[in-house]
Amino acid sequence: MPEPTIESILQEKRLFLPQVEFAQAAHIKSLEQYYQLNNSAKQDPSKFWANLADSELDWFQKWDLVLDWQPPFAQWFVGGKINISYNCLDRHLKNGKGNKPAIVWEGEPGDSRTLTYAQLHQEVCQMANVLKKLGVEKGDRVGIYMPMIPEAAIAMLACARIGAPHSVVFGGFSAEALRDRLIDAQAKLVITADGGWRKDAIVPLKTQVDKALTAGVTSVKNVLVVRRTQQETNMEPERDHWWHELQTQVSTDCPAEPMDSEDMLFVLYTSGSTGKPKGVVHTTGGYNLYTHITTKWIFDLQENDIYWCTADVGWITGHSYIVYGPLSNGATVVMYEGAPRASNPGCFWDVIEKYGVTVFYTAPTAIRAFIKMGEEHPNQRNLSSLRLLGTVGEPINPEAWMWYHRVIGGERCPIVDTWWQTETGGIMITPLPGAIPTKPGSATLPFPGIFADVVDLEGNSVPDNEGGYLAVRYPWPGMLRTVYGDPERFRSTYWEHIPPKDGKYLYFAGDGARRDEDGYFWVMGRVDDVINISGHRLGTMEVESALVSHPAVAEAAVVGKPDEVKGEEIVAFVTLEGTYNPSEELSKELKQHVVKEIGAIARPGEIRFTDALPKTRSGKIMRRLLRSLASGEEVAGDTSTLEDRSVLDRLRQEG
Ligand code: WT7
Repeated sequence: MPEPTIESILQEKRLFLPQVEFAQAAHIKSLEQYYQLNNSAKQDPSKFWANLADSELDWFQKWDLVLDWQPPFAQWFVGGKINISYNCLDRHLKNGKGNKPAIVWEGEPGDSRTLTYAQLHQEVCQMANVLKKLGVEKGDRVGIYMPMIPEAAIAMLACARIGAPHSVVFGGFSAEALRDRLIDAQAKLVITADGGWRKDAIVPLKTQVDKALTAGVTSVKNVLVVRRTQQETNMEPERDHWWHELQTQVSTDCPAEPMDSEDMLFVLYTSGSTGKPKGVVHTTGGYNLYTHITTKWIFDLQENDIYWCTADVGWITGHSYIVYGPLSNGATVVMYEGAPRASNPGCFWDVIEKYGVTVFYTAPTAIRAFIKMGEEHPNQRNLSSLRLLGTVGEPINPEAWMWYHRVIGGERCPIVDTWWQTETGGIMITPLPGAIPTKPGSATLPFPGIFADVVDLEGNSVPDNEGGYLAVRYPWPGMLRTVYGDPERFRSTYWEHIPPKDGKYLYFAGDGARRDEDGYFWVMGRVDDVINISGHRLGTMEVESALVSHPAVAEAAVVGKPDEVKGEEIVAFVTLEGTYNPSEELSKELKQHVVKEIGAIARPGEIRFTDALPKTRSGKIMRRLLRSLASGEEVAGDTSTLEDRSVLDRLRQEG
């Protein structure tokens, strides 16, 4: 399978038109309708978003001002009162949807459970009451470290219901990573489970929480533990509580707290090019609207759809497109605990067949893994229920797109390639499946009301088909509001990388992109020191810090190298302290050390020992050279700023 090279993308000429029948029944039915929406948003953005906020959501109190934009700080629906848990639950009960399945869950070992909207509402109320009983108040942060079980969504909605911002930490992150995030958010309580199933083994989540809490997380007073795997679990008296025990002691009624539209809904940590992961802050009203309307129009949700997004709730995709967006629309959401694994390479297709999934949203890395496993697995299942496919997380190479289209979509399902980020809250560039013709490898056009552009570092639009930086010229309701506890980092990372001109601020996304003659966006990947491994973001500096914390390591430089399935893989160049010698064993130990510090997604694919790193005279590591070396390419470009040119020769020989 060819790599997604710039050449192959530049040659991509295939165009897929929306099918007439699909378009006729879709929410957005034609390119004309898309342009109409876009134009009305352009003429009066506030009116555009206000109309949608009015027609799509329930408010306890309407706003006084749609947008207060004090660059780079935005407030949406100022003065409005709303609760996203109310919009995801209570209003559907009022509309007679109480018996509609809300979450259809399949566990990895094959157990399953369905919660109707009435049942989900009841459990969310109970958990909200348990949180209150354990002393959680409006404004307190709650850590969530959970497997993919319904209680993960219940925990998020319970927090939202009482106005306690959640901070979900992906269950694959290590105890150390969990601790850092709990400290930064100053979480008061943690919701976790005894364990979860992943690739035929139990992930001992509660044990990790215990480890995270041994070392100085003073803010956490209580831990609420959901029983999932039934394994023997240590419970600290006073601090730890079983959910199933407290659940029966509280009322099933808990009115949703009227939140200020700009009250913090959650903080979610993500990697940047420098420093520790940053806490991306999302607030209530704007995020509710943006995830609601993008879910509705992009996944074209209809009353009988069975919608499945394969992400984990630990990532923004899980927040926006498993929990809040679909439930706000009253959809039936499939939730799956497992991951594709050697012991069951057809597990995804079994889930689609079993539940009659109609809309399926996954990542290019998963698609590439399925291509490798062989098309006999999907071919042996009945996938005829599918009507729409989506991808997210990284650029999809046209050949993987074509495989998805042919083998999974049976050549009848439109594919929405959705570009967005933790920071954007929701999808920003994407086809609307009944309206926008698709080209394999392109995320196509901005969502109505999103003023995306490809610019140079001065903020000028670049001509068609020339590469530049992906930027957004105007605020949108789902945008991040700040970096938790660090508004300066928010300002400098996203809004001043391209210096503001005449008071006009541009949001800098950190991706390279090109726009073609049809206005279609082709996202080329990160332009900063962020690596994308299987659709997950990692900062090179985080991995370097983890390596340097090992006693053997003097210096480390980490780069990404193209990988057929994962997109990128980590290559770490390491110099050792005097008393240590390179060995296969040490290499293994260092890889394991990174897993312990961050989690399995950060495991370096390769450790390359060297006696020196290539640096400029001012001491900056020349990553560009290391990237070329790592991927086995000729080192091209200027090397004249190298302090010691012999380092490069030695690195070449060592490789
Ligand atoms: C980065 C954001 C948003 C949910 C998953 C990742 C890359 C994401 C696409 C796409 C090309 C994509 C970008 C972006 N990315 N979707 N459809 N085409 N690139 O969220 O962890 O915040 O990562 O993922 O590089 O900046 P995230």
